[in-house]
Amino acid sequence: MSESNNTMEKIAALCKRRGFIYPSSEIYGGIGGFWDYGPLGVELKRNVKEAWWRDTVTAHDETSVPAGAPSAYAMVGLDTTIIMHPQVWKASGHFDLFYDLFVDCRACKARFRADQIESSGCPRKPSVRPGEHDECDLTDPREFNLMFKTYVGALIDPTAETYLRPETAQGIFVNFKNVLSTARVKVPFGIAQIGKSFRNEITPRNFTFRSREFEQMEVEFFCPPESSEAWYVYWRDRRVDWYVSLGLKSEKLRLREHGPEERAHYSCGTADIEYAFPFLPEGEFGELEGVSHRSDFDLRSHMEGKLIRDGNELVVERDEDGQPRYAGSGKDLSYFDDATKQKYVPHVIEPSAGVDRTALALLCEAYDEDAIPDEKGAPQERVVLRLHPRIAPVKAAVFPLVKKDGQPEIAADVYRALKKRWHVFYDEKGSIGRRYRRQDESGTPFCITVDHRTLQDETVTLRDRDTTEQSRVRIADLESILAERLRA
Ligand code: GAP
Repeated sequence: MSESNNTMEKIAALCKRRGFIYPSSEIYGGIGGFWDYGPLGVELKRNVKEAWWRDTVTAHDETSVPAGAPSAYAMVGLDTTIIMHPQVWKASGHFDLFYDLFVDCRACKARFRADQIESSGCPRKPSVRPGEHDECDLTDPREFNLMFKTYVGALIDPTAETYLRPETAQGIFVNFKNVLSTARVKVPFGIAQIGKSFRNEITPRNFTFRSREFEQMEVEFFCPPESSEAWYVYWRDRRVDWYVSLGLKSEKLRLREHGPEERAHYSCGTADIEYAFPFLPEGEFGELEGVSHRSDFDLRSHMEGKLIRDGNELVVERDEDGQPRYAGSGKDLSYFDDATKQKYVPHVIEPSAGVDRTALALLCEAYDEDAIPDEKGAPQERVVLRLHPRIAPVKAAVFPLVKKDGQPEIAADVYRALKKRWHVFYDEKGSIGRRYRRQDESGTPFCITVDHRTLQDETVTLRDRDTTEQSRVRIADLESILAERLRA
């Protein structure tokens, strides 16, 4: 096994052991591509989403021009439904075009993504790749739409068919006019949404990286056509900085601009923010987020109907009778600019990130093994998650050194006081060394221990997860010291 695969197995084992991530429905053998987040995982994910929402919506100041932005702009949030009118997916192009190509093996019945044959394993050994064994009998590539179909109402017939959304973006586009007329915003402005998306991936793999149910954090940013290129550059660079601010500082993070051949037919520019996950071969990166310049494609599609490219133009696709193949809403989604007296369909810049992939990258980046001295000074190997304090599931753990002499009572008081402000944890079971190591594996940045001296001078020890250094601090100062260190 390669070293990187080995690291990934250790990270997955830690996620299970400490309650970050479990296979869904595990007692029934699990279900491929679905994952549950345990008590620590749910906090990690909430912290990722909160950091994104704060950065994107609540902390955004629409009265000043952020560094690198062409102008000031407003940001608002939205929470739209997972199931939408089926016409949404026809006009958007997902009904026709949101597919992967797959290949079946008639001999062993295994299914592979056509573009992943080279990196897939053939179940029949000693062959390595599908097609290499004498008995392999591969079909030609066939299309497979990734949307999960479902039915609305009591009738199971084609008129009741719709889909679980494969992206949150369409809920934003169809509400463009609602937001414009109710939120007192002007172009340029952005709408942010966090929510579940579903894709019936042919080969879910690499832990949570390619799941069938996952969460997205998407912004649709509406801007005038003439400044769209500058907005694209702004969002692309700003989004890289966000990952850096959460601790993805290493050479494992990169921004990759797509060449024209890789872009969607409506896109004028796309860049991926990528991370070198340990399950990938040396030198390969996996997508965390795509930032795309989508032109006026989305709003026009929902006005006019499904669009296709004709030379340099996007035109409505028509059937044999000259009618739109998939009609849009017919509603006017253009914008009238009071200042310039111009009417236009705004262009869209879309930074689209995955919550699960971000959480996975943060776990991979944070995972470390080192050796620290135990109580007797002998080096002990430890596993530590060096998560950024902002996203660590538990901010501090509080321990009494021993379960007597009034120490548990004082520790419980400290715990209750800190709990009013942060997610903290109380533990009095096991040796102090084991309690520290449990918290190191959980990514808890600070441990606070009440000991014999506390009874005399009302001080406790404050231990730093990364350096393991301990300092003596007054209980009265704990909250302000923690506040400062957690912000750092
Ligand atoms: N609205 C644009 C859009 O959905 P995408 O590149 O297909 O673009 C955006 O998806 C992000 O959603 C990806 O960068 C990734 O982080 C996440 N994502 C997509 N498919 C996923 C899957 N099967 N499992 C986990 N995350 C996924």
